[in-house]
Amino acid sequence: MAVPPLRARPAFAALAAHHAAAGGRTLRELFAADPGRGERLTAEGAGVFLDYAKQRVTDETMALLLRLADESGLAARTAAMFAGERINTTEGRAVLHVALRAPRGARIVVDGEDVVPKVHEVLDRMAAFADRVRDGAWAGHTGKRIRAVVNVGIGGSDLGPVMAHRALRPWADPSLVFRFVSNVDATDLVEATRGLDPAETLFVVASKTFTTQETMTNAESARAWLLRGLGGDARAVARHFVAVSTDAARVKAFGIDPANMFGFWDWVGGRYSMDSAIGLSTMIAVGPARFRELLAGFHAMDEHFRTAPPARNLPVLKALLSVWNVNFLGATSTAVLPYDQYLERFPAYLQQLAMESNGKRVRLDGTAVDHDTCPVWWGEPGTNGQHSFYQLLHQGTRVVPVDFLACERPVHDVGRHHAMLLANVVAQGEALAFGRTAAEVRAEGTPEALVPHRVFEGNRPSSTLLLERLSPHALGALVALYEHQVFVEGTLWGVNSFDQWGVELGKVLASRVLAELEADAPPAPAHDGSTNALIRRLRRARGAR
Ligand code: F6P
Repeated sequence: MAVPPLRARPAFAALAAHHAAAGGRTLRELFAADPGRGERLTAEGAGVFLDYAKQRVTDETMALLLRLADESGLAARTAAMFAGERINTTEGRAVLHVALRAPRGARIVVDGEDVVPKVHEVLDRMAAFADRVRDGAWAGHTGKRIRAVVNVGIGGSDLGPVMAHRALRPWADPSLVFRFVSNVDATDLVEATRGLDPAETLFVVASKTFTTQETMTNAESARAWLLRGLGGDARAVARHFVAVSTDAARVKAFGIDPANMFGFWDWVGGRYSMDSAIGLSTMIAVGPARFRELLAGFHAMDEHFRTAPPARNLPVLKALLSVWNVNFLGATSTAVLPYDQYLERFPAYLQQLAMESNGKRVRLDGTAVDHDTCPVWWGEPGTNGQHSFYQLLHQGTRVVPVDFLACERPVHDVGRHHAMLLANVVAQGEALAFGRTAAEVRAEGTPEALVPHRVFEGNRPSSTLLLERLSPHALGALVALYEHQVFVEGTLWGVNSFDQWGVELGKVLASRVLAELEADAPPAPAHDGSTNALIRRLRRARGAR
C-alpha cells in the first residue's frame, strides 16, 4: 500500500496538534512534572546506552512519533532492505550493507544468489593479504618490508577508513604508518608521501567506481612518485598497488593486477562501505581478528535494529527525535560531539553518511517534499569544542540539538583525565537543558547590567550516548546505529537515502571548466558573466591568454 507523504499521515497531524498544545513546555517544566523521565527515557542495545530524557519530548510525543513511524511503512521498508529488495529505486539497486557483516552461514539473496559467501570470500582474501603485509611476507619490489600504507580514495572511500584509523589507533600495528590521500589538491599527495620510502610503501587505491577524478588523478601521480623512486621499473606497480573496487575491468586498465583487487558490489553504497573491502587499510592496521570484532559490532546493532521493539530501538528512537527536532521544533542543524579523542573524525564521517543520504528535496516518487529533510550535521570533539563554538550552542539564537558521545571507561586511564572528561560531557547536557535564569544569576550577586549577558535560557535538547569502552566492536555498533538512524529518517521523510545525484552537476561542470582552463586558445565565453570572468582571470594566472 502506498505511503502518503509525511504531512498527510494522520500521526503527523496529531503531532502538530500535540506540539501546538504542549510543545511550549520547557525541559525545566518537563523534569519538574516528571522527575522519573531521567531513568525512563533511555534505551540500550548492542552495547550502546541512549539517554534522551533531555530531548523536548514526553511519553505522549514518543507514542505519536512511534505511530508516525508505523504509518510511514517503516517495518515493511526495513524488512525490504534486509531482504535485499531493490529499495534504491533511482539506481535500481538493493541496499545491503547489512550483508557485509552478516555472519558466515547467514543467507541473504539478491537476484537468486546468496551474497553472504561472496562477502566472506573477500574478507578471507583481505585477511590473508593483511596478514602478509603485517608479518612482512608481502614485500615491496626491492624485497623491502612494507612500512607505510597510503589509502587513496575520497568520500566513502576515504572518510570511513580515516575515521576508523583514528578511532582504532590503540589496536593498530605501531610499526606501520598509515596515510590518507583524498583531495585532488596535490598538497594532499605531496604531504602524505613526504618522508616515505617508495620501496616500503603500499598504495591502496579505493574507489567503488574507479572513475572518480580525484582518486584516479591521485593514483596516477602516486604511481609516478613510486616509479620515480624505484628507477622507473613498471613491474614495481604490482607489488606496491592494490585496488578496492567494484570494477575489475577498470582496475586492470589502470595496471593493477586483478589478483590484487578486493571487490565489493553495487549494493554497497560508498558511504556505507567502511566495513567492505574499503576497510582494507583498517584491516591492515588492526589485523583481521580485530576487523572481525568491528564487523561483529555492526552486526549486533543490525540485529538490535531488526528485532528490538520500536519503542526500545536505538536507531528508531534517534531518528524519531531527529524528525521531531527538524519538523516540529524547527532545528536546521544537529551537532555530534564526541567526548573521546579517538572519535575525532566521527563527525566528519557522519556528515557524508547523513547529508549525502538524506540531503534530498524530492520523494521517492519524484514529487517535491513540503517539509524540511536532513539538517546540517557537524561537530568536533569535546572538550575542545567547549572553547570554540559552544557559546552559540548555549546562548545563540538557533537551537542545535546535540548528540553527546562518551565512553564509560577510558582507553587510557591517566590521573583524573577521564573523570574530568565525563564531568564536562554531563555538565554540558545539564547546562543546555536547564540553563540559568535571571533570578539565579542575580542571586549570585551579578551586577544588573551583566545579568542578561549571563542568562542561559536553556531548553536546548540533547541526547547522551554511552559506550562501555571504545573498542572495534563498540565502533562497529556505533556506526551501524547512525547508518540505521539515517535509514529511518529517510523512510519518514520519504526520500531515497541511497542515491547521490546532487554531486553530479558539479562534476560535469568541472570537466568543462577544466578543458577551458587548459585550452591553448581563449575559450568562447560559454558561461554566465561571473563564471566567464573567473575563468579568464585564472587562465591569466596560469600564464595563458
Ligand atoms: O561524490 C560522490 C561519491 O560518489 C560518493 O558517494 C562516494 O563515496 C565518492 O564519490 C567516491 O566514489 P568512488 O568510491 O566511486 O571513488
